[in-house]
Amino acid sequence: MSSHHSALGEALVAGGDTAVAHIDSLDFEGNGVARVAGKAVFIQGALPGDEVRFRYHNKKKNYDTGGVVEILSPSADRVVPRCRHFGVCGGCSLQHLRPEAQLREKEQILRDNLAHIGKVRPAAWLPPLQGPVWGYRRKARLGVRLVPKKGGVLVGFREKRHSFITPLESCDVLDTRVSELLPELRVLVAGLSQPQRIPQIEVAVGDPVTPLPCLALVFRHLEPLTGEDLDRLRRFGEHHAAQIYLQPGGPDSVSLLWPQDAVLAYRLPEEGIELQFRPVDFVQVNGAINRALVGRALELLEPGADEAVLDLFCGLGNFTLPLARHARRVLGIEGDAALVGQARANAKHNGITSAEFLAADLYSADGPTPWGGERFDKWLLDPPRTGAMEVVKRLPADGSGPGRIVYVSCNPGTLARDSEVLVHAKGYRLASAGVLDMFPHTSHVESMAVFEAGPVSGGMDP
Ligand SMILES: C[S@@+](CC[C@H](N)C(=O)[O-])C[C@H]1O[C@@H](n2cnc3c(N)ncnc32)[C@H](O)[C@@H]1O
Repeated sequence: MSSHHSALGEALVAGGDTAVAHIDSLDFEGNGVARVAGKAVFIQGALPGDEVRFRYHNKKKNYDTGGVVEILSPSADRVVPRCRHFGVCGGCSLQHLRPEAQLREKEQILRDNLAHIGKVRPAAWLPPLQGPVWGYRRKARLGVRLVPKKGGVLVGFREKRHSFITPLESCDVLDTRVSELLPELRVLVAGLSQPQRIPQIEVAVGDPVTPLPCLALVFRHLEPLTGEDLDRLRRFGEHHAAQIYLQPGGPDSVSLLWPQDAVLAYRLPEEGIELQFRPVDFVQVNGAINRALVGRALELLEPGADEAVLDLFCGLGNFTLPLARHARRVLGIEGDAALVGQARANAKHNGITSAEFLAADLYSADGPTPWGGERFDKWLLDPPRTGAMEVVKRLPADGSGPGRIVYVSCNPGTLARDSEVLVHAKGYRLASAGVLDMFPHTSHVESMAVFEAGPVSGGMDP
């Protein structure tokens, strides 16, 4: 299988299993994209601007995949990854790229998606929202597995290319309090009566709002725990100032083991709001970026004192309650009834009476709209990765819909798809868009976009 590679940019050598490529861009999983002999290759570990020798992993009809063997000439933005698990652990994929360059690449991914899928171009770009790039993750699901060959109990994220658990000694993107506990968690689980029956530990960190612990650990267990197990878990909680929860079944089965009373909450100080959550509730992963995001959403939406705002996919009220501080009325709609309950409790907790919440499936396309046909002056959309096509389709095309829509997205592909409908079918213009550094070092692209009802076209010339 030997082959000769003499020049940079050389095409695939017939019969060879490696080739040289100049990397042009990044794909949505953080792989470098190149063209070799006219065919696209997605190369793990390669960065735009790199010249690499890579090995083919897979050859498909329309594209190939591969992995870096040698970096012949590095991109000027290449840096040494900080974590020793980088490359194996599936948690991060961009630690080898300077953080500012990560954001630039993510902006490019957003721009390309909007142009190619949505056929739209924002009239203006919002500056990226930036925060701390390490220790930012306040929510995570850690896999647990007993693998005696690898030294016992492993706790960590899944590997990139396998379903194995990466045995993490520490994790630089996790909140440092959680990272520091990783080795102790391995020892704790190993000491339980049936370590092989603990598949997952979910972690959540709140702001320090009470003298009680603000770090929560939820142990998923497939068999009942013994009295001795429970004692061990309680002692661990006490020793490490962690709330301990047990989860014998689905999310509804979560119960607090230690201490007797506990809350988790985060604050939005600018709005004087405190949001309480349970450890398995959806909360935005990066607290600093979330505070900035809520601030920017308010700035962009400009809710007036006489206006009504609709907040779709509202979760526990992260945007609804800040909006309610300014608008006449806000209706938050969310599919998870438990989160709706939490949102109502949060409204009460903050003395807010102008927010209402409703549980409804926003992906259902049948029947009347969950918001009962009411006209709202402005909309906020924050859907999951699958996007908001069903609600976007329900907008009137005659200009009688909301005057402005702020769309927060964790998937540029579905944002672009929905933008196409908003701009080319519903008469909106894409006033601005930009990325948020919600997940530094990972390939996740979080973004936001502002759509204005109005005659000026935000579309691209065909
Ligand atoms: C990205 S989260 C946003 C939550 C909230 N806006 C926040 O900032 O915390 C998306 C939310 O959509 C909800 N969701 C998912 N599918 C849904 C559906 N079919 N109908 C309504 N809500 C849904 C999820 O439960 C989740 O709370």
